Amino acid sequence: MRNEGLIQRYRKFMPVSQDTRIITLNEGSTPLIPAPSLSAAIHPKIEIWLKYEGLNPTGSFKDRGMTMAITKAVEEGYEAVACASTGNTSASAAAFAARAGIRCAVLIPEGKIALGKLSQAMIHGARVVQIRGNFDDALRLVRKVCERYPIALVNSVNPYRIEGQKSGAFEIIDDFDGIAPDFQAMPVGNAGNITAYWKGYKEYKAAGNNPNLPRMLGFQAAGSAPIVLGHPVDKPQTFATAIRIGNPASWKSAEEARDESGGLIGMVTDRQIKDAYKMLAATEGVFCEPASAAGIAGLKKLSENGYFDNFEPEFGDKLRVVSILTGHGLKDPDSAISAAEEPKTVDAEEDAILEAIGIEATATV
Ligand code: F0G
Repeated sequence: MRNEGLIQRYRKFMPVSQDTRIITLNEGSTPLIPAPSLSAAIHPKIEIWLKYEGLNPTGSFKDRGMTMAITKAVEEGYEAVACASTGNTSASAAAFAARAGIRCAVLIPEGKIALGKLSQAMIHGARVVQIRGNFDDALRLVRKVCERYPIALVNSVNPYRIEGQKSGAFEIIDDFDGIAPDFQAMPVGNAGNITAYWKGYKEYKAAGNNPNLPRMLGFQAAGSAPIVLGHPVDKPQTFATAIRIGNPASWKSAEEARDESGGLIGMVTDRQIKDAYKMLAATEGVFCEPASAAGIAGLKKLSENGYFDNFEPEFGDKLRVVSILTGHGLKDPDSAISAAEEPKTVDAEEDAILEAIGIEATATV
């Protein structure tokens, strides 16, 4: 069947009516890819699957929430939307606003957003404002402006964003023929996504689709780990710029997801994130952006600490773990180039090429 976008696919779980004009880019229905190399490298008892959200139309999971938020903004008569963003939300908001034919303004922290994301917001025609401050400053400001003017706020504090994003959980259960995974691992920034997935798992269970629920495992970057530390971080730092957030808006609901599911929210260093980022690309052929690799980094850390030794699979013979790869690697080419080996430059001659590739000039095939 043709993919008509996630609102259509999961219509009875979405706040729309017969008359709602749906604004969609055919988002959702992203692949769930098995990761045998990573599973073997991380723990013999676990089976890791990658939910590759980078294959959404604007290259990140934000499109799930944005189709819903922009659909409702248009239905409610708004002619403009706005958001604060570390990059992906702005790219998605700009694209869906363009599709709806309404205006969009985005506030981003100056110099701290990946090139691909900035280029998206610009080409879709959003009014892009870089502020001398971080994401938390930008969110505070945009909330104020949207309260005062007829502009819909499309950050994940907008409840429609959560409604759309919960569809990721539905897809995972559908792909596993009606069983939720034992664990779900994911990065945590502003904490909307962990909130949305948990809501999705619970709603789908209540509707009789899955008998079980996963333990939610969220990971923050060590330099931006307010939930782990138990207090806001004034000057959040991390090379995973998407999750460089010191005071998450959905802090409380992230803690609820953690506690109700019997999971945890932990932190991983930039070094651990970078290693996982490279491992995903080099051993599974899956290219995600740095923040997205925090889930895999976290699984590796938990495994080393003996965490998985305490659990037995309820269904099947391995513990099933889904890691949400929230954004595509091409969003942030600078990070990839700086994390990988530089290309060699040689003369346009056979011998030089063979030497550069590492083949003996005398060897025959
Ligand atoms: N991964 C990526 C690639 C993201 O862009 C974000 C958030 C997250 C993970 C964390 O998700 O905030 O729901 O906990 N990006 C937001 C943005 C903040 O503005 O694009 P979260």
